[in-house]
Amino acid sequence: MMTCAHPLCSSIVRKGIVGLTGALMIVFVLGHMTGNLLIFLPPEAINSYAEFLHEAGHGALIWLSRLGLLTIFAVHIGLTISLKYENKKARPIAYATHQPLASNWASRHMLLTGLVVMLFVVYHLLHFTAGVTDHSADWRRPIGGPGRPHLLDVHSMVVNGFQNPYIASFYIVCQIVLGMHLWHGGSSLFQSLGINRGFWKRITAWAGPVVAVVVVVGNCSIPIAIQARFIQCHADIEMKKAEIDSKNGKLPRLWSPANGGSASASQPH
Ligand code: HEM
Repeated sequence: MMTCAHPLCSSIVRKGIVGLTGALMIVFVLGHMTGNLLIFLPPEAINSYAEFLHEAGHGALIWLSRLGLLTIFAVHIGLTISLKYENKKARPIAYATHQPLASNWASRHMLLTGLVVMLFVVYHLLHFTAGVTDHSADWRRPIGGPGRPHLLDVHSMVVNGFQNPYIASFYIVCQIVLGMHLWHGGSSLFQSLGINRGFWKRITAWAGPVVAVVVVVGNCSIPIAIQARFIQCHADIEMKKAEIDSKNGKLPRLWSPANGGSASASQPH
């Protein structure tokens, strides 16, 4: 393998970039979770929030964020794997008795938990963004009429997705694995960035566990509340009406004069 003498290739700089990209992803995960928790409010809240995300900057903001996230994700994973590879190369024979100091299961299995989170994100994008893993995305239909073309029924999509106990359980397990990754990563990123001396040491040691618990509790509360029927799908009645309408040969009314107009929209499959 070729060695790189450029200062940017030094392991300290690469570790710093891993820490920085990790911090940016934590900001995304916390922001995404806060938005998702709007599901506990009436459906209009999360639907309008998703509409705002899709419309901001004439649709440019969401594509810029997607591109940014993808780059951050790729750099974080690529550099972590390269650092791990170099560590292994530097010590090809393992310690006879390996008893790491100040380590725990989470810190020793960062690569494994990181890979599980990566696979989860791939599934998650296929589930809610591409809508190809089950029928929940069929519920993500336009409900705003011509005046609000980007107002989609995200609330019904998420509720229908998590009404499936296997999908709900899978998400819960993945959030716990994400929590393990954040438990260690959320603190060690400060060390990678050189912010863990004196007064900061105690604060940064708590940062990872706090972020992990907040993310696991916040994200798991959604599938749990849906499985417990605490959050229900508001669109059942509308769907039934649409089904009856289409059986009677009428165009389904996915939005009504009461919510702003009288046009019909296409029916979910
Ligand atoms: C229970 C937890 C979660 C729920 C309910 C949830 C919900 C959603 C929904 C509904 C969307 C589609 C939004 C839309 O297209 O309007 C979405 C997209 C996305 N989620 Fe999550 N999410 C959860 C956890 C996570 C986690 C833990 C991550 C990352 C580690 C994540 C990363 C993403 C990404 C990258 C997108 C794509 C955004 C886009 O470009 O459209 N989500 N999520």
